[in-house]
Amino acid sequence: MRTRRKLEHLRLALELPLGPGATGFEDVFLVHNAVPELELNQIELGTEFLGRRLQAPLLINAMSGGINEARDINESLAMLAAEYGLGMAVGSQIIGVEEDACLESFQVVRQVNPGGLVLANVSALAKVSVAMRAVEMVEADGLQVHLNVPQELAMAEGDRKFEGVLDNIHELVERLPVPVIVKEVGFGMSREVADKLISVGVKYLDIGGHGGTNFIAIENERGGLFDEEMALWGIPTAVSLIEVLSLNREVKVIATGGISSPLRAAKALGLGADLVGVAGILLKVLQGGGREKLSRWMDTYLYRLKAICLMTGARTPFELRRQPIVIVGKTAEWLRVRGIDVSSWGRRQ
Ligand SMILES: Cc1cc2nc3c(=O)[nH]c(=O)nc-3n(C[C@H](O)[C@H](O)[C@H](O)COP(=O)(O)O)c2cc1C
Repeated sequence: MRTRRKLEHLRLALELPLGPGATGFEDVFLVHNAVPELELNQIELGTEFLGRRLQAPLLINAMSGGINEARDINESLAMLAAEYGLGMAVGSQIIGVEEDACLESFQVVRQVNPGGLVLANVSALAKVSVAMRAVEMVEADGLQVHLNVPQELAMAEGDRKFEGVLDNIHELVERLPVPVIVKEVGFGMSREVADKLISVGVKYLDIGGHGGTNFIAIENERGGLFDEEMALWGIPTAVSLIEVLSLNREVKVIATGGISSPLRAAKALGLGADLVGVAGILLKVLQGGGREKLSRWMDTYLYRLKAICLMTGARTPFELRRQPIVIVGKTAEWLRVRGIDVSSWGRRQ
């Protein structure tokens, strides 16, 4: 059952377009700097995350593992991570914890990239012992725990009980030997939710906003219990990112959800994200042209990300935060109604 579901998720993530909802980045503008006084080779994308050096502030986010097809996908993604010095998370590992035959599809990620940033992945309701095994399985530098309530409710066979999540996350944070990153899978986090997570000790959030891979749309195709209108559910990535950053708390923030272009990545970094996460688009590129095409795609992505930094006058993604940024339209309106002042947005931490 689980194997079939994973296969269907892969197939549908490939077939369906990202969306249908918007990410909110269409309302966010970096301001062109006609006199940047920089050379392209002065732009430095590298950063540190969880004690590992990354060549760019990019995370290949959790997607795959547990089935034969997943092993090859994970190997290709891990090769990309190693080649470009990017972070990578494996897909949910419960199947690897329960079935030895599935281990290799996860372990390949660490084997291919022994010195890289690798993140384990389990449900936010996973027991400490399961989370511990997931971390050991890939010698992870951190553990992602995912929140996916709408996806479960859209699935006929999904979970219906979501109580005790905050207590469980608190226990995971206290007892795991590595940092815990709480992540949404594409429905976004509000600032109220982020505040609750921070109050139970979480120091890393992946806001996983709406506008990219859409698990309600995917479940609809599998005969799920929601419909097209429900597929618009969720907080757009840019909105969620600003909501969470507006708390101005000491928390590292990863922006995932429809960051399929370097311009969106630059906007997320300019708004204040520490890293951006990319998932579905990588599967599509890999499927369309294999490893070589994926490498060429990443070359272009990183070249353009550097070019955008230069065109704003920022030497690093971190400096992007200090450049002017304009937020208009529905995104500005939402934030205004929520009492968040975006007239001179700048991340304060
Ligand atoms: C095929 C597929 C499988 C996924 N499986 C997982 C998973 O096991 N655990 C998880 O936390 N997120 C999972 N995700 C969600 C991604 O990590 C990411 O949060 C989401 O796809 C939004 O990013 P995107 O718009 O760049 O695809 C999966 C995504 C895809 C496309």
